[in-house]
Amino acid sequence: HTPELTPTDKVPECAIAVDVLRATTTMATVLAAGGEAVQVFSDLDQLLAVSEKWSGEKRLRAGERGGSKVPGFDLGNSPLDCTPELVQGRRLFISTTNGTRALQRIQDAKAVLAAAFVNRAAVVQYLLEKQPETVWIVGSGWEGSFSLEDTACAGAIAHSVAQQTKLSQDELAGNDEVISAIALYSQWQDNLLELLHLASHGKRLLRLNSDEDLKYCSQTDILDVLPIQQEPGVLMSRK
Ligand code: MLT
Repeated sequence: HTPELTPTDKVPECAIAVDVLRATTTMATVLAAGGEAVQVFSDLDQLLAVSEKWSGEKRLRAGERGGSKVPGFDLGNSPLDCTPELVQGRRLFISTTNGTRALQRIQDAKAVLAAAFVNRAAVVQYLLEKQPETVWIVGSGWEGSFSLEDTACAGAIAHSVAQQTKLSQDELAGNDEVISAIALYSQWQDNLLELLHLASHGKRLLRLNSDEDLKYCSQTDILDVLPIQQEPGVLMSRK
């Protein structure tokens, strides 16, 4: 049951999308705040066309490109905007540069989850309970490249699973990616905000004055919520 970071050609039993900065943090926040569902789109026009059928009271449209809000959308991708007053009972239609695409790529897995530091414990709890045979943890990165914060979050999940199942070092042997991710998390676990400040996308967001978002996204285990796919592209909170 060792989590794997690199997708093989098979569809896994469980696939977990990670985009700490900020898409999966935002999704967890919306569902924890009482949002009805989160529906993801890689394409902005498709988002507009599908959400058109929903009443203005029921829908919220979030669009982010390059870290900034897309003009004409209700929201960008800041989790801090997703207050209970705003999101309660509403569906968030969201398209972001990388995070929503990662989710779409893994949507054929039997179980599809969204994870970030904020809901790490809920994701780990699910893995311990269901014990899926194969797990992919898919970091969203930035336009295809490696992401420090997503790898650290994958490490945070793997670290906790390994600890709670008393997995020995030998049992992890051969899985270079998981060992690296756990090592990265172990080094930074008490300093995640600093790690986000070092990360390339963290620096991009700081240039856009999103310091408060970084602080929020660096918190571990603060939301007891598990965003899980109900139909392709639609995530709801697991009851
Ligand atoms: C993404 O999906 O690329 C990110 O969530 C970007 C962002 O920080 O808004």
